[in-house]
Amino acid sequence: MEFIIDTADLAAIRRIVEYFPVTGVTTNPTIIARENADFKALLVAIREAIGNLQLHVQTTATKAEDIVAEAEALHDLLGDPFFIKIPIDAEGLKATKILSQMGIGVTMTAIFTPQQALMSALAGATYVAPYVNRLDNICADGSGVVEEIVQIFDNYAIDAKVLAASFKNVEQVHKAALAASHAVTINPELFDQLICHPLTDAAVAGFTSDWKKVYGEKTVQDLI
Ligand code: G3P
Repeated sequence: MEFIIDTADLAAIRRIVEYFPVTGVTTNPTIIARENADFKALLVAIREAIGNLQLHVQTTATKAEDIVAEAEALHDLLGDPFFIKIPIDAEGLKATKILSQMGIGVTMTAIFTPQQALMSALAGATYVAPYVNRLDNICADGSGVVEEIVQIFDNYAIDAKVLAASFKNVEQVHKAALAASHAVTINPELFDQLICHPLTDAAVAGFTSDWKKVYGEKTVQDLI
């Protein structure tokens, strides 16, 4: 499963890329606006920070022709691997058909139903992004929707991947993994929570104290 960073916070991106196995960065207009920075300079800096990892940037256009123009301009600016994020609607589908023919990757976003995902994939989207937490918030089983999309893609040998999004806790990520989501995009804090466990801390504390009783402050390197 791919892990992608759902933020435009440069310091957080640099930290997560350094420490965690990730395949890219996703943004949306809310995430970008949160940084309150020069849009172009911020995207160029993110590209510099992540090198050849994926960069997913969302369009703000609503007409297919305008979406295509924005995607081309962003692709020219940021280079591959690049994916234009397009909210699912008829104009978005039309843009996806055009962009996939042009070889520009599309991540269809704001997905809430398996049929939205199926239509996106058939139009040529590389990724579809169902919003897990927003579905859970209305008692609509976010991981269940992920599972159904994966099953439909498998049923028809569709190449598109599920990039599950909108996570608020570790349990949701765990369920997405059990549902065989191909990818998840999560915020930086959730990366830390995924690997944190009090029993791990207690185990390490025990190792350290037992070692010090015999070897004091000496390290393995000091003794070999
Ligand atoms: O980028 C799309 C998705 O991750 C949004 O998440 O937290 O706004 O529901 P959220």
